[in-house]
Formats: sequence, structure tokens, C-alpha cells
Amino acid sequence: MINITIDGMACKAAPGATVLQVARDNGIEISTLCYHESLGPEGRCRLCLVEVKKGTRVRLVASCLYPVEEGLEVQTQTEKVQQVRKMVLELLWARCPDSEIIAEMARKMGVEKFRFKADEGNWKCILCGQCVKACEEAVGVSAIGLSMRGSIKKVGTPYAEPTGVCIGCGACHYICPTGAIPMTEKDGVRSIWGRDFKMAACPVCGNYFAPEYQLEWMAKTTGVSLDYLKTCQNCRK
Ligand code: SF4
Ligand code: FES
Repeated sequence: MINITIDGMACKAAPGATVLQVARDNGIEISTLCYHESLGPEGRCRLCLVEVKKGTRVRLVASCLYPVEEGLEVQTQTEKVQQVRKMVLELLWARCPDSEIIAEMARKMGVEKFRFKADEGNWKCILCGQCVKACEEAVGVSAIGLSMRGSIKKVGTPYAEPTGVCIGCGACHYICPTGAIPMTEKDGVRSIWGRDFKMAACPVCGNYFAPEYQLEWMAKTTGVSLDYLKTCQNCRK
């Protein structure tokens, strides 16, 4: 095991663990936006910055990416860390002026408004890529991707058209840290990425729980019977 200290607390860490993982394992909270426990780090938002001291060298690093090393001293709450985090939030807020989640985080850090020019035409997305990763790696579908470059880079379906590849599972919507992917459900129909999906109602409890198209896709790709999948997880025996 590797020995480090975080805010003066002695912590043991497995080789290869990141500072963020060790901090969380020891009950020390570090704010994050683009990190997801199941999908891993993206290193895009820089909100998780902490100060690390190795020998005499002190630097700011992204804790979600930084691997632990023997004797590392980590500080998560110094004045410098707080100042930089506030600045990062201000920049993210200006980039995504319509994201209530970012606005809320900023206000909690004492940032009441942003001083930079708001990005136009972006609104909520920080381009972290977690939605694309979830769709590709966790679901195995690849219905969305990042396209264009620079300030017009954006996430979406190919040619911004509704795509038959999407199964309507909503993983991208649920995983998005800033609420940038809209999904609605009304009268047994889920709408996402320009398509409407009829929802399956569980024959036992009657709740709508997944798009019929998603269940058919799951039956086809896993070999599990469609009849079994048509009952919601809570009511399956
Ligand atoms: S839509 Fe959400 S998850 Fe996808 S890149 Fe943008 S912020 Fe990240
Ligand atoms: S959580 Fe570490 S860079 Fe976003």
C-alpha cells in the first residue's frame, strides 16, 4: 500500500488509485463535474483541482486523474485551491449559462455571477464526453458523438438527425452532469434525440419502465427472452 496524507490525515492507498478515489474512500469530499464512478475520469472540468506537494514542489492538479505516490501530501481546501475552483466555476458558468446545476454549484461556492462573456449557442454542455462514453461503452450502441471543432464543438446524433441507432435508454440523459440532454416522458411515450419511444408497461405493477424498442434490442443482443424483459426489474422473480 502507498502512504499519503490528505488535509493532514494519513491515508493508505492502492497503487494506481487516484487522489480523488482515496479522498472519497476516506470521507473527504472534493467537488467534481465530469467524473463518474462507473465510467472513470475525463479530466475536462478541472473542478476537482487540489494542491499536491512532492518534495519541495507544490502544484495544482486534477485529483480525478492524478495517481497517488508514496509520501504525497494533498491539500483540498487551501485558499489557492478555493480561489482557483471559484474561477473554474465562473468559467464553466459563462460557458453554460443555462445550466442550473452549474449555477447552483457556483452559488454554493460564493460565486454570485460570472464576469466573462456568456457563450452563445451552447447553454448547458461542458463537452465532457461522458454521455458519448456511456452510450458507447456501457450501453454498446454509439448513437451519439462529439462533432465539429473549437467553439462550435457539440454532442449529438449524426447530422443532428433522429437516428435509428438510438434505443431510447436515456443513459446519456441520466449520466450528463449538467442536465444538457433533454428527455421527456408523457402518456407512455419517451422523447429523446428527436425520436418518440413507446414505453412498455410492466404487466405486474403497471408502471412504464423502459422503451419497448430498448427491450427488443436487449432481447436480441443478449439472448434473454423478451417475455422475461417485459416485466420490470422490481417485479421479476
Ligand atoms: S451533454 Fe452532458 S454528458 Fe454529454 S458532453 Fe455535454 S455535459 Fe458531458
Ligand atoms: S472531475 Fe476532475 S477534471 Fe472534472
